[in-house]
Amino acid sequence: MIGLNIVGAGRLGQSVAYLAAGSGRYRIGGVLCRSLARAEAAVAFVGAGAACADFAALPDAELTLIAVPDARIAALAAALAARDWPAGSLVFHASGAGELDLLAPLAARGVAVGCLHPAFSFAEPARAVATFAGTPCALDGDDAAVARLAELACAIGGAPFRLAPGGKAAYHAALSVASNYLVTLTALAGRLAKDAGVPDAAVPGLLGPLMRQTLENALALGPEAALTGPIVRGDVGTVARHLAVLAEPGDAAAYRALGRLTVALADGKLDGAARDALLARLAR
Ligand SMILES: NC(=O)c1ccc[n+]([C@@H]2O[C@H](COP(=O)([O-])OP(=O)(O)OC[C@H]3O[C@@H](n4cnc5c(N)ncnc54)[C@H](OP(=O)(O)O)[C@@H]3O)[C@@H](O)[C@H]2O)c1
Repeated sequence: MIGLNIVGAGRLGQSVAYLAAGSGRYRIGGVLCRSLARAEAAVAFVGAGAACADFAALPDAELTLIAVPDARIAALAAALAARDWPAGSLVFHASGAGELDLLAPLAARGVAVGCLHPAFSFAEPARAVATFAGTPCALDGDDAAVARLAELACAIGGAPFRLAPGGKAAYHAALSVASNYLVTLTALAGRLAKDAGVPDAAVPGLLGPLMRQTLENALALGPEAALTGPIVRGDVGTVARHLAVLAEPGDAAAYRALGRLTVALADGKLDGAARDALLARLAR
């Protein structure tokens, strides 16, 4: 059995601990929160481990997960670096945006460090553990750390993959664009539909099926093959008419920027004259 400490037993920490304990391959050691009552509640959920409220109470374990809010990881790593770490200890965080160097004070003490980021929303631990299976888990660290974290990711039902060194920012930007900007695009499309007189209540029914179908096509066929519409047809006149009704400068700027990326995506299907005309119209 591999020992696993949990420092920060919130939504992710509790869920990972529960799944690791349930795999039969990990023994949950210490479960640390700032308040002992919260650590005890986490231990009750996980069904394993010893509740702690200070670092000194943490037992030695091969693996220690730091699952506190991102802004606190560096300070916690600095505080944890002050304790003695047996040879072979690996400390890892679960942040999607945070780099490995958040754990630099531990690395400086010779502790192995890594990151395991599940691309999953742990809104509520009981629901999370029931639906986690198959979740992609991004790993960061040296070869040995990545191998140990891949073993944990598989044990909890995840699908591990490794990021390129220094790839954390691009990885997190990819997730943010895919998730957050999709919401922003939905809002922009909804505003335009309302400008056209579509009743509020009818907007989801108008946009939803088209958006879902387009997303499914883009994922199944690839973005180039899934692209339809005026840009890939080289229809500069329609693009100009769209721009003419975008009253908000921010909306027009977003349309032009995304339009230029769309021209690049359509490049293989556009002749040179159409491409140049589109880019000229989208530059203004
Ligand atoms: N939630 C998600 O969907 C998700 C998904 C992927 C990755 N992550 C990553 O997972 C990490 C944890 O996120 P979360 O959503 O699980 O956070 P969370 O639910 O807010 O839980 C944070 C936990 O950290 C504890 N904590 C805070 N400061 C502490 C300290 N100084 N010492 C010890 N414990 C401390 C809190 O304990 P108290 O209650 O006692 O304050 C709480 O139990 C973050 O790096 C986040 O980016 C989260």
